[in-house]
Amino acid sequence: MTNVAHHVGLIVGSLRRESINRKLANAIVELSPPGLKYFDIPLGDLPMYNGDLEVDRPASVRRFTDECRRAEAFLVVMPEFNRSLPAVLKNAIDWGSKPMAENVWRDKPIALTGTSPGAIRTAVGQQHLRQILGTLGAAVLGGEAYISFTPDLIGSDRTLQDAGTAAFLRAYLDRFELFTEKLLAK
Ligand SMILES: Cc1cc2nc3c(=O)[nH]c(=O)nc-3n(C[C@H](O)[C@H](O)[C@H](O)COP(=O)(O)O)c2cc1C
Repeated sequence: MTNVAHHVGLIVGSLRRESINRKLANAIVELSPPGLKYFDIPLGDLPMYNGDLEVDRPASVRRFTDECRRAEAFLVVMPEFNRSLPAVLKNAIDWGSKPMAENVWRDKPIALTGTSPGAIRTAVGQQHLRQILGTLGAAVLGGEAYISFTPDLIGSDRTLQDAGTAAFLRAYLDRFELFTEKLLAK
């Protein structure tokens, strides 16, 4: 392991102020290994994808793709909507995938997780996302991280209150750090 920290773009697939996925993302940043340094990549100001806008891409789209290019890896934390990924996240992925020669996802290490109060815990939505990112040539970390949300999962100090979930996510993030390290090794 090198001593160089990698810049990880944090993408949260919910715009909601009280988003449980945003809370999970905050908690993950707290327990992540030191080799991963996160910066937030917002999605809320992106217009819906429209090829007509390609002639002069809006500033928000240029901001988004510039930040994605700066990211050496990504962590996506998302809710599941109707057994798929939220439209706001799909829209952002579509912007980042065009023009094809400048696809920001290709060969980037990406870890996925998400939380829901429901029984399936975002598993089906994450499978869709995995398929899309695979098509775009991203290197999606293997394994699964579906987090069951309960009101007491995350404390007011932004940390995970459940030791088992914290240990599970720490191990997942340790693997993500190693995976990123290997893929970025020159
Ligand atoms: C349009 C919509 C569709 C949803 N579909 C699912 C679903 O398929 N599976 C699930 O577990 N929860 C589903 N939910 C419930 C979400 O898990 C819940 O609203 C969650 O709080 C959303 O994440 P957020 O708090 O990060 O925005 C859905 C919610 C909405 C608004």
